[in-house]
Amino acid sequence: MTERFFPLNVPMLQSIVDWSAHRTINGPNPSHGARPATELAHDLAGSVSPKGIGGAEALRRFDQIIVPATRAQDEAMNLAYVAAAPTPAALTFDIAVSAAEIFGGTWETGAGAIAAENQALRWIADLAGFPDTAGGVFVSGGTIGNLSALHAARERARERNPGVKRWRLATTASAHSSIAAAAKVLDVGICEIGTDDRGRMTGEALVSALTNSNDVFAVLATAGTTNAGIIDHLSAIADVCSEREVWLHVDGALGLAAMASPSVRPRFDGIDRADSFVVDPHKWLFAPYDCCALIYREPIYAAAAHSQIAPYLDQIDRDEWNPADYAIHLSRRVRGLPLWFSLATYGTDMYAAAIDKVLLTVAEIVAGIEASDVLELVETPDLNVILYRRPDLDDEAMIRWAEAHRKAGTILCLPTSHDGAKVFRLCLVNPDTEATKVLQVIGGGFPNLGGKEI
Ligand SMILES: Cc1ncc(COP(=O)(O)O)c(C=O)c1O
Repeated sequence: MTERFFPLNVPMLQSIVDWSAHRTINGPNPSHGARPATELAHDLAGSVSPKGIGGAEALRRFDQIIVPATRAQDEAMNLAYVAAAPTPAALTFDIAVSAAEIFGGTWETGAGAIAAENQALRWIADLAGFPDTAGGVFVSGGTIGNLSALHAARERARERNPGVKRWRLATTASAHSSIAAAAKVLDVGICEIGTDDRGRMTGEALVSALTNSNDVFAVLATAGTTNAGIIDHLSAIADVCSEREVWLHVDGALGLAAMASPSVRPRFDGIDRADSFVVDPHKWLFAPYDCCALIYREPIYAAAAHSQIAPYLDQIDRDEWNPADYAIHLSRRVRGLPLWFSLATYGTDMYAAAIDKVLLTVAEIVAGIEASDVLELVETPDLNVILYRRPDLDDEAMIRWAEAHRKAGTILCLPTSHDGAKVFRLCLVNPDTEATKVLQVIGGGFPNLGGKEI
């Protein structure tokens, strides 16, 4: 074999594989977390230099400096923001995906991988009740998925109604922050729709907002809001959208994973009539970062909006399924493959069981909160987000309590605001989270940090 320009150090390669295996087998360290930038700059000084520091030292820095300064996302007591819970099969297989170095933008370069990714997308499309002609692509996250779908929607509206000068997107105040960001990128206005008393978009509110307006290019409904896990009234919204031929996009980045469980699927009735939706397998479908499934009912509109045309791309066979044509990207990692491998390994029944297990844990925690003298439930959850109060802690004490537990590695549970007040928020995605452990911590006092400052 001819010598490579960049030498291959087999023992170093083995060390990296061993490190990955050790991490996958033993899981993360819950007390790991961010450190000040100045400290990290000091500890990592000289890593990138003309002569390099060598693989062994770089790996040591990764193990001892870099990883300990990151949050343990896939830890069962990480209930802050939206954590992650990749299956061992998905996590391990991601190493193979990296090694295979597949270009997933075009069929010509990635056919096998794209065919497998499309099986995973098809499973999700079937859960939603989308037709056989539906199709999509895995993108980096809900933010890019939502933006890509909304761009396709606006292009269709422009085509149909070229007279409109400035378009608006209809949504509610509880839509994810990525929606306001997408509206900015697309330079469209927001038409804010009224909600019921729990913050859900209703069909009636949508009808009154759309009456006498022809400038709304899409309705953005949420299936599982980030702050409270609320599901908009999808069926009534779908009725209004189909009657008025307005594109319905459902942001299910967090919540639509629960379609995998037959017991919960009816809560999403109406999703079958959406024009597009996203769900993030890196949130509650047990896949590693980064992975968002973006699915269109009629992918032809997405291709019209997104296909990149250039002389050097003329060779692309546009009759094949080219993932680059369905979102804002060209080069792409085949990031849906770990999900595909995990589905193939465990079977979809285990996914349904895992969602049910999380929802059972949510119900147990809710029951524990209701039975507690120190905790108060804010409202009954629709899905996997629980909001509760600790009347014995003022706002400042809540922050100190959360920070102390973060430092101790006992739980990651951060405050949020709800109806103008600070409340605690738990978001569950991990089937290994145990209700008794959670209840013990959230109803208890400050942890002993052994003299460490908060
Ligand atoms: C409902 C919802 N939509 C969109 C997003 C954005 O997803 P991402 O962080 O993958 O871009 C999130 C993230 O939490 C979300 O909860």
